[in-house]
Amino acid sequence: MCVCSSSKFKSLIFVVLVASISLVVGNSAYAHGGGPVYEKRHVYMNELGDIMKAFGNFVKRGKGDLAELSQKAVRIIELAPELPSHFPPDTGLNHNKESQAKPIIWEKWDDFTSASERLVDLGKGLESAIASKDKSQISAAVKQMGEEGCRACHSQFRIKKN
Ligand code: HEC
Repeated sequence: MCVCSSSKFKSLIFVVLVASISLVVGNSAYAHGGGPVYEKRHVYMNELGDIMKAFGNFVKRGKGDLAELSQKAVRIIELAPELPSHFPPDTGLNHNKESQAKPIIWEKWDDFTSASERLVDLGKGLESAIASKDKSQISAAVKQMGEEGCRACHSQFRIKKN
């Protein structure tokens, strides 16, 4: 007798499949559908978001230590060059209703890539502010990163205001 035809075996496979799917979904806070490009983009931007939250916690609540923050500034510098690669053509909000990426990204591609390159300089500024250990310098550099780095791009190229 072949075990594959047994209905017990089939339902076991079904249970295992469902369990592994819910494991994958449960592990990510992924909100956007549409495929791997959007998912990777979401994970990428959320890493930047988590880094900015950590900086915010330090500035507002004094949480976190400087060595850790310095690593996060370096991480922004590392992440910046790959930003444009998360926006291949035809992956804006007109192709996926859950995306917040404006089609103007691909019309003004040079402006978009310059906005991503700006993260490198701002990241370096943040790194040296952290090295100074001066809280007001660090706060100013965090604010600058938020406004001239993240928001400057979002206000032009992303629909949701933040
Ligand atoms: C060069 C442009 C650009 C820069 C710079 C940029 N972003 Fe974004 N970001 C976008 C675009 C466009 C989207 C919308 C993507 C989409 O929905 O498909 C986005 C989305 C996001 C999201 C939502 C992700 C999601 O899927 O829910 C977060 C969080 C985010 N960005 C954080 C940041 C932070 C923090 C910084 C600064 C350190 C930053 N971004 C810098 C363009 C940029």
